[in-house]
Amino acid sequence: MSKVVTQRKVSCWPKVGPPIHPILAPSVLSADFSRLGSELRAIERAGCRWVHLDIMDNHFVPNLTFGPPVVKCLRKVSKRLFFDAHLMTENPTGLVEAFAAAGTQNLTFHVEASGDSTSELIELIHKHGLRAGISLKPKTPVAAIEPYLRQVDLVLVMTVEPGFGGQSIIPSCLNKVRTLRRYRESKRLKYVIEVDGGINLETIELAVTAGAEVLVAGSAVFGDRRVAENIAALTERMRIASGIPSL
Ligand code: DX5
Ligand code: ZN
Repeated sequence: MSKVVTQRKVSCWPKVGPPIHPILAPSVLSADFSRLGSELRAIERAGCRWVHLDIMDNHFVPNLTFGPPVVKCLRKVSKRLFFDAHLMTENPTGLVEAFAAAGTQNLTFHVEASGDSTSELIELIHKHGLRAGISLKPKTPVAAIEPYLRQVDLVLVMTVEPGFGGQSIIPSCLNKVRTLRRYRESKRLKYVIEVDGGINLETIELAVTAGAEVLVAGSAVFGDRRVAENIAALTERMRIASGIPSL
């Protein structure tokens, strides 16, 4: 039986706009898996506060990555980075306890995988002291997550089909970001909006302008091994798009 834990102190949680203070969340999916620890240290040195951990099970998506034992090792390497786990798995409920124990701070699941137990799953994530995120694939409408928007801390809008890095953004998915932004304002809700997929120097401004507060980028950060330069360039584009003098 899972035990109740106190909410992990979160110092990296973005303020909900306006104005937007965007956060870059590098996805290690495009990192060198043989040296994940160094990759985390590199993004931390480059000023990042978040890291995005893509968990794939070869069922919900046709790809397979890593699980709680790897996350636990990474937690030892970086005490400061905010661990943002993106579960692209069936049966997310069965994974909550292990990811919480491994040091994850936000756990995002897919509404296409949570079915009838979505509300209970969000409660379970909160009971373990984590922030709870809900995600939707490109073809899933915002209406599918609307019943849960009062409960969640974060909404992850997929801007590519989940499963692989290096795909091109589907620009129409940004309409969901706009819808979620308007809905949040009209209902005075607090969830943070994150986008994931195809975010790079050419597209990051579009995503920030649409209203995203957390920008996931995998290949645009790790693709050419110039990690620090890529993070600096993406951060500068985010700053310009958000109209913030300095991030
Ligand atoms: C895709 C993952 C993404 C992926 C993004 O299913 O959820 O986080 O790493 O990769 P890029 O930024 O290369 O599109
Ligand atoms: Zn992801």
